[in-house]
Amino acid sequence: MRIGPIQLASPFCQAGLAGYSDRAMRTVARRRGCAYAVTEAMLDVIMLNGGEGLRRSIDISDEDHPVAGQIMGSEPETMARAAQIMAGAGYDVIDLNFACPVKKIKNKARGGHMLLDVDRGVSVLKAVRDALPPAVPTTISLRRGFDDSPESTDRFYQLLESAWAEGYSAVRVHGRTVEQKYLGRAHWPFLREVKQRYPDKTILGSGDVFTPQDAVRMLEETGVDVVWIARGAIGNPWIFRQAQTLLQIARSPAGLGPHEAEQHLTPPTIHEQREALAEHFAIAMQIHGESLAGRRMRKMGIKYSRFHPESARVKSDFIAVHSLRDWTGVLSKWYAGEGPGVWPAADAADEVNAGADLQTCEAGA
Ligand SMILES: Cc1cc2nc3c(=O)[nH]c(=O)nc-3n(C[C@H](O)[C@H](O)[C@H](O)COP(=O)(O)O)c2cc1C
Repeated sequence: MRIGPIQLASPFCQAGLAGYSDRAMRTVARRRGCAYAVTEAMLDVIMLNGGEGLRRSIDISDEDHPVAGQIMGSEPETMARAAQIMAGAGYDVIDLNFACPVKKIKNKARGGHMLLDVDRGVSVLKAVRDALPPAVPTTISLRRGFDDSPESTDRFYQLLESAWAEGYSAVRVHGRTVEQKYLGRAHWPFLREVKQRYPDKTILGSGDVFTPQDAVRMLEETGVDVVWIARGAIGNPWIFRQAQTLLQIARSPAGLGPHEAEQHLTPPTIHEQREALAEHFAIAMQIHGESLAGRRMRKMGIKYSRFHPESARVKSDFIAVHSLRDWTGVLSKWYAGEGPGVWPAADAADEVNAGADLQTCEAGA
């Protein structure tokens, strides 16, 4: 479990998530066992324009390490400059987003569309690597192809080979194609194929990890080195420690099966939920100010509510949150007491609206 020179304490990573994985989400996760975290994708040109976009891009704190700053763009030069800014701001790793299913802009590829324009992708890989000191590791985030064609898989491997040749330290593979966006299942056998092809390289696996059991199962079934936990971590910062607990039990000499092992997990108590919610909102306020924090935290609160025994009623109260006062009101009403939490209902696990992500990605265009 290494990203270049950086040794990770556990194989579970907080994914890059536009609109979510800001310093607030990352910090709350880290305090609950997350060993490695990635920012949301930052558009290089927005960073280079300075101002608020830049401030948001370089927002890390002392407890937010090791952390990867993720950048996305089309031009080798602007990507290289953005990478230098991020490295200068203290990011431990620079991750290039070649995965986001944003549309092409002005016939230039970016995100997952690099899988259609390998030459451009290779130029970006090279320019970023050349712009950084050797001590700063670089990684790429890729989908398994643009579409299901064999040519698309060939292009995936061309980009990957170039990344290794340039000295990239790891690759994150999302088991969906760009065309698939967030629909359908992620293809885990492809992750296994990539790991088998490059047994000595660090591979992060991504797609359909919603529970601690899924996270451990991905390690076991695909052999990837690190599991990238995305939608499954929204409103669930406990997933990192739970996955680690399950993994330790599964790999202990007693070697309990996953079903027996999960008896050792308990959902977060009401008190633990309140602590996480309060911390999350407080840091979000520092970053975004009250009004924007209220809007961003509403969708977080909705996801956190899955662990409350009265989840439907708590959720509808979170939907009405606009301000710190509203937020505090929900916490006082539902989270003041002690008591056990519940595991989310099976149908709640996958309900993060992937459509919202596409809007977020495209809004950044
Ligand atoms: C709301 C949302 C925002 C996302 N933003 C990013 C991002 O900024 N950077 C990135 O690399 N991936 C991003 N992704 C992709 C996820 O990190 C992850 O690869 C994908 O959701 C598949 O994992 P999952 O099925 O376990 O959620 C986003 C996904 C969603 C749903």
